[in-house]
Amino acid sequence: MRVPIIVGNWKMNLTIAQSEMLVQSIHYGLPWPGEVDVVVVPSFTALLKIEQLLKKSYIGIAAQNFLMKENGAYTGEVSISMLSDLCVNYAIIGHSERRQYFNETDEVVNQKVKAAIQHRIIPIICVGETDEEQQLGLTETVISKQVNHALSGLMPEQISSVIIAYEPVWAIGTGKTPGPAQIEKVHAFIRCLICSDAISKLRILYGGSIKPENSQQILSQPNVDGALIGGASLNAVGFTEIIKIAAQCKKQ
Ligand code: PGA
Repeated sequence: MRVPIIVGNWKMNLTIAQSEMLVQSIHYGLPWPGEVDVVVVPSFTALLKIEQLLKKSYIGIAAQNFLMKENGAYTGEVSISMLSDLCVNYAIIGHSERRQYFNETDEVVNQKVKAAIQHRIIPIICVGETDEEQQLGLTETVISKQVNHALSGLMPEQISSVIIAYEPVWAIGTGKTPGPAQIEKVHAFIRCLICSDAISKLRILYGGSIKPENSQQILSQPNVDGALIGGASLNAVGFTEIIKIAAQCKKQ
């Protein structure tokens, strides 16, 4: 049985004070510790403050990005060991915004996945096709290339500890989503790409315009183990509503 996981990616949106307020409201609204893994992803400027606030809570914390080097002359970057120092539990890798605007290639994604695992930080690896690729019927080709590159060189037990987020690029921030059956089809396809020892443990999240209104249909799909949420995670009421829906869907 895979524990569902709901991740709120705040992207480049909140000040430290706003981040504190949001995490306190989320904490206040959460009734069921243990049934769902809940993770928030603040910006770097708020990471330390939120980590301190969440020390005694069961809400996990993720970084939006890092550089896979330990240290050195890389002005402006945050290293993987700095994330360990902050006791960050997870890191998003290969988000489409980083692939699109910051040249995060499949090779870089693979290096970051390995660095995160080495530092006991759980990678949340994002994969997904663009609108054009979807229209050309290339979804499975794109996904298999991204997944195989990201996991290249990992042992089966390392693969079972990573999280994959299927995020169609055309669904991110647009209000559009694939139908639940299409999401389930891609998630089942991703699971088939995984080596047999890791297949039943690996968690696969859906991301892209998830909101309380569509989350029940999506989260009730058998191969959907949770969600990576952008816009809707900035609202504590909506975000906790999705967490409750995830708990209900996965109980059945
Ligand atoms: P969205 O973003 O929920 O705002 O579509 C999802 C994401 O970028 O992970």
